[in-house]
Amino acid sequence: MSQRSRTAVLALTAALALLAGGCAEAGGVRGTPGSAGLRDPLFPKLGNGGYDVGHYGLTLAYDPASGRLDGTAEITARATQDLSAFNLDLAGLTVRGATVGGAPAAYNRAGNELTLRPHKDLPEGKQFRVTVTYSGVPEPLTDADGSKEGWLRTAGGAVAVGEPAGSMTWFPGNHHPSDKAAYDLTLTLPAGLDGLSNGVRTARRTEADGRVTTVWHTAEPMASYLATVAIGRYETGTATALGSVPVLTAAESPAAAGSAALRGEIPGILARQVKSFGPYPFSAAGAVVTQDGTLGYALETQTRPVFPASSFDRTTLVHEQAHQWFGNSVTPATWRDIWLNEGFATYAEWLYTEEYEHVPARTHFARAFAQDANWAFPPAAPPAAGNLFDPPVYQRGAMVLHKLRETVGDRVFGEILRGWPAKYRHANATTDDFTTYAESVAGRDLDALWQVWLYGDEKPDRP
Ligand code: TRP
Ligand code: ZN
Repeated sequence: MSQRSRTAVLALTAALALLAGGCAEAGGVRGTPGSAGLRDPLFPKLGNGGYDVGHYGLTLAYDPASGRLDGTAEITARATQDLSAFNLDLAGLTVRGATVGGAPAAYNRAGNELTLRPHKDLPEGKQFRVTVTYSGVPEPLTDADGSKEGWLRTAGGAVAVGEPAGSMTWFPGNHHPSDKAAYDLTLTLPAGLDGLSNGVRTARRTEADGRVTTVWHTAEPMASYLATVAIGRYETGTATALGSVPVLTAAESPAAAGSAALRGEIPGILARQVKSFGPYPFSAAGAVVTQDGTLGYALETQTRPVFPASSFDRTTLVHEQAHQWFGNSVTPATWRDIWLNEGFATYAEWLYTEEYEHVPARTHFARAFAQDANWAFPPAAPPAAGNLFDPPVYQRGAMVLHKLRETVGDRVFGEILRGWPAKYRHANATTDDFTTYAESVAGRDLDALWQVWLYGDEKPDRP
């Protein structure tokens, strides 16, 4: 052994001893920090690496008069690497304390990143529990396209909507759609106000001080952008859909009370959609109709989409219900795959009018084909965050599906529309996953179709 290699061996031995010593001292592994973002092509800092959330337990108390929110988030997660620290996304608010595994954890805030350092590193595979207590007056975010999202104060209370990043304004979490989790949410409000959220209401009680608490359970995995809370004076209605799915609808009184008839159509619409898209993916359904003046758009919040009163119409209802399959159960792997939500929900509208209003899908297709705004970019590649909800995502997305239908025929297309939500039920999917799946059902290569309609920059000469 030469002098040089002997030195190297000695150094290596010393390093190993140090490492082993370090481990013994810490009583476990030495981890590294989880990444501060998941490198989404359009929202690189959204979400966090190094762990996977299984459950959010959110306990919230809200005072509409002052706008103050008091929250505790109990997050159960599993480490996907040896972790020395990890991030949660949180915008605004004040963190009062944090624990990991029951022990106080150091924390630090920078922009929308909350970094937690557990007192002991977490080994890969370990399940752990984080609690963050926080409070403050939540401030909404302004999207790249100028729309507002997050915790929005209304004349009578508040409504929380989170697509694509607004949920970080009211609870800390892994706010990228690829990390879905179950939720339990406990909401305490002043007497006289109603609170609504996703899923099934499992409890309602009056506190000693007169405030009213409701508890909401979301059993199936949910992307955080689909979490919602609505607070105000609401008139509610209940029904049963599909033989066993409880339907809870709510409309802010008195402005939205006129929505009762359309709310009553939800079971019928779901029954129709089950035929086209396969089994309903969730154990609850419904809708929340808020007074106009705050929310500028409807959102497909899981099991219970929210609507401003003026956009609570049948077409929008069909669209948001279709998202329960396309977006909420099959969730885009990245925000670039948003056409898997909006193209499908738009096509669901076309299918609905085909059946109920005798307007064939090809009429919608022809109209969409003729509009210049729909050709600004290919649906599979929105160029920037501000284009997430632009016409090509919706209209050209639906055109892709119509061309697919024309190419493979109604029978195979029907099989694809039902099989896709079955194959990726409660999971995430990419555009590639879809094209691969459609080709496997069709039993043929469809590359020419995708190149022109899904990825092409140019409008084709002929429809
Ligand atoms: N996803 C909603 C829908 O089409 C629309 C939406 C959510 C939206 N956030 C938005 C539209 C922000 C414009 C701006 O059902
Ligand atoms: Zn939509």
